[in-house]
Amino acid sequence: MKLDNEISVSEIDYAYLKDTYACPCDESKMYDKFLMPVKAKGMWVWFDGEEEPYLDLVLNYSSVNFGHCYPPIVEIATKVIERVDQIHSFHSKDKLELSEYLSNRVSSDKDYKVYFNIGGSAAVADAIRLCRYSTGKRYMISFDGSFHGVSHTAASVVDDRLVAKEQFGVPISDHTLSVPFPSKHNDVTISDCLDRIEKLILDNDVAGIIVEPIQGAGGFILPKDSFLLELSKLCKRCDTKLIIDEIQLGFG
Ligand SMILES: Cc1ncc(COP(=O)(O)O)c(C=O)c1O
Repeated sequence: MKLDNEISVSEIDYAYLKDTYACPCDESKMYDKFLMPVKAKGMWVWFDGEEEPYLDLVLNYSSVNFGHCYPPIVEIATKVIERVDQIHSFHSKDKLELSEYLSNRVSSDKDYKVYFNIGGSAAVADAIRLCRYSTGKRYMISFDGSFHGVSHTAASVVDDRLVAKEQFGVPISDHTLSVPFPSKHNDVTISDCLDRIEKLILDNDVAGIIVEPIQGAGGFILPKDSFLLELSKLCKRCDTKLIIDEIQLGFG
């Protein structure tokens, strides 16, 4: 099928394009129905062929917390792209100003360097690489029910139920140690979890721990109160790196 400007939208068979050229996405897995947004605004999404909009309660897994097509963001993104449209091999004024802003948001006492990447999996892979590089150690501790992405390194710390690990062709989680997540919905206690982690750190060559402050893909699961604080104290005491892989809180 040839796509060009002369073909009107209604003449294009998007269901055919989806079945022929696109890999499945969450929509087809969850709803068993072809849902293609043709317009989105704020919390509302209009699907092709549907007159009434739907309320989007997930907002792209909280990555569009200001709502879809938020005018000030559209305006500034358009301005930035008109000026300089790539920042991979150069610095731009906007990139440097954003670096300063993000560094100051993380800490007012210390200047952190900011590294931009293209998504969550890449950020997780970089964080794990830094843990291993800076400690010279190899194992990562992650939590049951966790999701950190689908690239080779990110998937290595994901719960087996949330990614098809056999599709990587080789075992990818040989250097991952899993522990139960003390959530508001289970009876895993914080002290049991921390004792278990401490023992794993003593017995293994542990480079770091990775945790989601709220487990997203695992089912929007909240940790028990004070767990993250206690985990961070344990990491300081044991001199172990802690990666907070945050999406659901909307911090960044
Ligand atoms: C907590 C968390 N980390 C990492 C990722 C991977 O992000 P990306 O799909 O941008 O690679 C996700 C994706 O949903 C996620 O929820």
